[in-house]
Amino acid sequence: MREAVSDIASHIAVSHKIQFEDLDWELARKHGLTETEIQSLHYFADIESQTVHYFLEVAKLKVARDPELLTFLTMWNYEEYFHSYALTRLMEECGVRVMTATERATEIRQNARFKAKFEDFAQSAIAVAMPKTFIALWMFWGALQECLTTQAYEELARQTTNPVLAELCKRIAKQERRHFAYYFNQARDRLSGQKFAQQFCKAIARAFYAPVGGGVKTDEQAARCVAGLFPGDKIFEVMGYIEKRLAQLPGMEGLDCCTIWANKVQPMLPNETRAKSKSAGQPGSTAAA
Ligand SMILES: [Fe+2]
Ligand SMILES: [Fe+2]
Repeated sequence: MREAVSDIASHIAVSHKIQFEDLDWELARKHGLTETEIQSLHYFADIESQTVHYFLEVAKLKVARDPELLTFLTMWNYEEYFHSYALTRLMEECGVRVMTATERATEIRQNARFKAKFEDFAQSAIAVAMPKTFIALWMFWGALQECLTTQAYEELARQTTNPVLAELCKRIAKQERRHFAYYFNQARDRLSGQKFAQQFCKAIARAFYAPVGGGVKTDEQAARCVAGLFPGDKIFEVMGYIEKRLAQLPGMEGLDCCTIWANKVQPMLPNETRAKSKSAGQPGSTAAA
């Protein structure tokens, strides 16, 4: 099964800056934001603002200079920037003291840890040595991340009692789903019939998978953010769901990289968001519908 939006023309037709100027800010202020929501929004806004750096890293590689890929990356980068911008605006309207989206992007990058820099280096090395495999990995990785991002915004929309936050999250999630569709379909095309690329992507994911932002946030910050949204055993449900979706790609049967990560981070979590069930953490054991 192919995802709905598969080719670049369809993306060009629907790509747009997220609409947020029409939101009822007074209503947003009236409902306010909880401490947990503020933490999640800060994290999301930070990560969204970093997309331009992922874009720059991949775009400087010769292997990525395919006009169609660059077109998608341009739209993707533009859309993600405005996710950060709109989330920042919502926080400001609700009286949360925040940096502007631009200041945020600059400051976070300055703090990018060695890991982010090392990843950039490793990425370039793989791209030079195995360009086709690198692009397959980039697409596969993108699909993994966009799948979690979509789930996270949808969950935030479901949980909040602030109707304006819910509406904004739904609008963002719609774009994230489209990003996922692009990466998923690209990964399918590039993994199809490529045994080595399939094994390589699976091995890299098993060894290094972590939610997006690993280079600019600590493992603990990422784990707390995901578990804050999906507390207890729910983290394994969402990880199982992502694995099931991605397992539909060629050679990805039995994918367990997200469950491995969720198990690994349990000791970093505060008691109230730690998984309780003993059966949780087995790949596919608690996969959500
Ligand atoms: Fe986004
Ligand atoms: Fe996205």
